[in-house]
Formats: sequence, structure tokens, C-alpha cells
Amino acid sequence: MTQSTSAQTGVTTAGPAATLLYDDWYPALRTGRLKRNKLARAMLLDIPLVLGRRSDGRVFAMRDSCPHRGIPLSYGWFDGEHLTCRYHGWEFEPCSGQCALIPSLTGADRLDATRIYATAFPCEERDGHAWVFISGPGSGKRSPGAQPRRKVPELAKFGPRYRTAHLSANLPCNVDHGIIGLMDPAHGPFVHQAWWWRSRSSIREKTKRFEPIPEGFRMSAHAPSANSAPYKLLGVYGQPVETTIDFVLPNRRTETIRCGDKWFSSLTTITPVTSATCRIDVIAAWNVFYWVPLVTPIAKFFGAKFVRQDQVTMIQQAEGLRHNPSLMLIDDADKPAKWYFALKQARLDAAATGAPAGHPVDGPVELHWRS
Ligand code: FES
Ligand SMILES: [Fe+2]
Repeated sequence: MTQSTSAQTGVTTAGPAATLLYDDWYPALRTGRLKRNKLARAMLLDIPLVLGRRSDGRVFAMRDSCPHRGIPLSYGWFDGEHLTCRYHGWEFEPCSGQCALIPSLTGADRLDATRIYATAFPCEERDGHAWVFISGPGSGKRSPGAQPRRKVPELAKFGPRYRTAHLSANLPCNVDHGIIGLMDPAHGPFVHQAWWWRSRSSIREKTKRFEPIPEGFRMSAHAPSANSAPYKLLGVYGQPVETTIDFVLPNRRTETIRCGDKWFSSLTTITPVTSATCRIDVIAAWNVFYWVPLVTPIAKFFGAKFVRQDQVTMIQQAEGLRHNPSLMLIDDADKPAKWYFALKQARLDAAATGAPAGHPVDGPVELHWRS
């Protein structure tokens, strides 16, 4: 069992570990933290990382461990081109991980430093995140320069002019609990009670249509819940409002709301930091209310409140999970959670056997619940 301390609350909690999905892209940190000639640390899937930005602008992520004696490379120096280990001064090119210099070698040595590699992960900047492709355990064996076959996730945008915001919170539970909390429709009226969102008395019966998509499922385009204020606000445009919500492995929920040529788009990820803890990141872009003053700080204020409500609930849940209770998933409200577990298992099985992954949703299906 792993222990962790939530940065925002100082509450120490522990919970069971989750099986992690490798060979995919995860957001490590906001690229605003990557300052000139400075190194930053992050943790993904229990792997300590050191990140930075080369002088040519390219971002990089290496395992924060020197291949010589294992000291974290983040204690070393970075001049914009090479990262120097602080112990014996080996120098590495940080995007490839290739060793460029071993200062202790003499003319009599046969060792070719450039045949040595520190572990470098593919790293790309999108929407202000440094996304890192984490290949399976033993990632060091990935041949240098090999490119991941999956595309870097990107927030959908539907025009050149938009505003953006980002929110993040540490969650003291494993990634599975974070993800099923994200897709769970039944907690809304209890966890997110607020005049501007919904309350217990606004609970009503819902029918939603879902369809399978590759490695995920889609809540088919529909008019958003009539019982939440933010969606009502869009009524001012006098156009039909339509929203589509997708979940795709390993951890991504995208929501698109369109109302004529006005739109709102968000990408929410639940990223395993360790096998027992995770982090939620929400990035959003929109052109709705573009000219309304202060709309970004107002959106961030309400967004942060919303995320905080989930975070507080998960801190409380983690307190219970410490004792390894047996748990339930019920139909239909927990059906998306069941699909998530089945999709995840299908990917793990496919990786183990080489056979194509099955899909738990075999066609369009309607789910019913009250929320
Ligand atoms: S431990 Fe890094 S150079 Fe020796
Ligand atoms: Fe929530």
C-alpha cells in the first residue's frame, strides 16, 4: 500500500494501487514551468522525470536518474543544449538521452560515450501541457529515436479566436477511482450542489444514448441537461445547443458544446502520478461570451470550485478506501464505469496476446438514470 500527502490539504491518505496503462501519452506538467536553462521535476506512473526546454524551444523529458550511478539528473546543470550530471559530469543530449561526454575518459580508453543512453521519453508540447509518452516498464529498452504510434492528444478548437483556461488538482486515490468519478453521472446533485449548477431537488430522470468509438465510448450529441445554469446561459444565443462527450483510454474525457458558430471545448485527463494517486487536469477553450469582460477569471473561479468539490469528495473517499472495502458498480448509473474497466482489460489483454482488443459496447445503447 502506498502513502501520499495531498499538496493542497496536507491530508495523508493511502489506498490500493491500480494497474497502469503504458504506451500512451500523459500530461506531465504545464510548460509555463519550463524556464530557460532550468530543470523541472514531475512524476508519471511512478516514474520520476526531469523536464526542460532546449534553447531551440523543444521540450524534453528524461527519467530523473543518471544511468551511471542513479543520482537524479535534476540535481545537475542544463545549458540549453546538454544536461550535465552533478556527480561525475557525464553530459547528455536530453531529447535522445544520448551521452555526449564522459569527462573521466582518457585517450587510452576504448569506451565510446555516445553508445550510452540515459532514458529519454518522447515529449511534445500541446495546449500548454508537456505530454510524455510512457512506454512499458523497462522503458529504457525502447530503441532511441523510435516514434510512438499514438497521436499526441490535443484539445479540439473550432476557430482561430478563443480563450483558454487550465485547472489542476491532486487526487489522493488511484487512477481508476479518479476516472470512474469523472464519468459518474449520479454524484452531480450531491457533490456539485450549487445554485448555478444543480441541487438535489433538481434531480430528474435522464435517458442518454451512447455509442462505441475506438478505445472508448461517446455520449451521442444531445441537448444538454435543462437543469444546469451554465447551459441555460447559452440560450441567449437563440440557437440549439448540442453537446458531445467522449471518453477514450487511457484517461481522457472530451466535451464539446456547440451553439451555432459559438463553441466550448474541454479536455479532462486523470493522470496516474503513482499507482495509488492521480491528478486531474482540465484544459478548456471557448469562443462563447468572447467579448464579455472577465469571462476567463469567472470561468476559472467556477471551474476551480467544481474541481475542488470532486477533490474534497475523493479525499474523503480515500479515507474509506484505506481499509480495502468491497465496492459495487450498479446499472445504469455505473455502466460507463463498467465499460471503462472492460476497455482497460481489453487493452491489457491485447498487449499481452497480440490479438486485436475487443470492445464492451457492441452498438448504440440507451442508459437511464436519475441525476
Ligand atoms: S552518477 Fe551521473 S555521471 Fe556518475
Ligand atoms: Fe464531479
